[in-house]
Amino acid sequence: MRISRSHEDNRTYRNSHHRDNLLAFPKNFEWGAATAPHQVEGNNIHSDWWQWEPGHVAHNQTSGEACDHYRMFQSDFDTIQQLNHTAHRLGIEWARLEPKQGEWDQDAIEHYHDVFRALKKRNIKIMLTLHHFTNPLWFSEQGGWEKKKNIKAFLRFVEFVAQEYHEYIDWWITINEPMVYLTEAYIFGHRPPQKISLWIAYRVYRTMACAHRLAYKKIHEIDPHARVGLAHNVSSYHAYRKHAFLDQLFEMILDRVTNHAFLKKSGFPQCHDFLGLNYYFHIRIKHVRLMSILKNFDIFEPVMTERRDTSDIGWELYPHGLFNALMDFADSGKPIYITENGIATDDDKKRQKFIHEYITEIWHAINGGADVRGYFYWSLLDNFEWEAGFGPRFGLVHIDYQTQKRTLKQSAHLYAEICKKNGIEAS
Ligand code: BGC
Repeated sequence: MRISRSHEDNRTYRNSHHRDNLLAFPKNFEWGAATAPHQVEGNNIHSDWWQWEPGHVAHNQTSGEACDHYRMFQSDFDTIQQLNHTAHRLGIEWARLEPKQGEWDQDAIEHYHDVFRALKKRNIKIMLTLHHFTNPLWFSEQGGWEKKKNIKAFLRFVEFVAQEYHEYIDWWITINEPMVYLTEAYIFGHRPPQKISLWIAYRVYRTMACAHRLAYKKIHEIDPHARVGLAHNVSSYHAYRKHAFLDQLFEMILDRVTNHAFLKKSGFPQCHDFLGLNYYFHIRIKHVRLMSILKNFDIFEPVMTERRDTSDIGWELYPHGLFNALMDFADSGKPIYITENGIATDDDKKRQKFIHEYITEIWHAINGGADVRGYFYWSLLDNFEWEAGFGPRFGLVHIDYQTQKRTLKQSAHLYAEICKKNGIEAS
């Protein structure tokens, strides 16, 4: 698919020039950080995750109070204002709003009005995620995303939220990382409902893609000016042997299947006003042998073989991969927002380097023709990292989980400077 570049692209290109030592970003570029409700709010008691966590999370942890953001959101939003963020990505928790099927919780409804008003009061734009991995328990008990007929329930929730809150919302994300959701739950079986089955995974894939298309329509019926998209995880692939047909073929297949197929199925480009990309992974494809594929699908080279730098949880640090991922979508004809990108580390120097290098790559991608309009660092706060518990720390803000005390890391200040200057120092 090739779509011609718009005038907007040219404006972007002209504005992203090299001023003195500053790599300047286009005017009105959005800078922010992202969170997800279950990971930060605490006490999400009506969700499927809450029920599943005991005995399944590292070190026997459970999400519990998480960061108590449900009660501390005002001061957390003061922080992002002080840090010069122009936008914030957060989610609304379906299990709180509709704890029992068809019954809407008045306190939760009011709560999210307070949350959105608090951001608007601080002049911070809102990117709202409707589904970020968790489901109301009742929805899961009815078969969740495995059943197409359950889309009706999701759409009712989407309609409710759009009618209630549309005036606050600048961008809508219908579903966060559908491919990660279905792979973790139905292929690897690491997350609820832990059913390993390719057939069920495929059904979830179809249901989520259809749910996105219908949610897109529904939100637009309520607010014709709404900007609606997905947060789609993309990876960059690298085949070691450029001359080997099988290696190249695998690079292409993986790129198609994981980076492009779901988007297409979810109605891209018609049902997407922008392209939301979450970027974390660079994946090396080693010498592909037919027998090793058939036996155990052994085609990836662990990064540690090359003794490269990684995050604390072993994810490779490879800034150029973000450039590659962005350029792969540069001809999509849609504005791109990096809806997540971040590093889990206790070594904040590493995070500072990460932020500097990855954002520099975005600058290069913009100059290469990618229409990137915003960046959301993952995450604002250290938080509950799903089945890995509270160990991995992705935050710009350190959380003491005993006292809920917040401490700004040096990387939060570095990022605040970037947001303020709308640019980054050339290294
Ligand atoms: C998810 C987040 C998660 C982050 C780091 C993304 O896949 O959207 O919820 O915490 O990656 O693993």
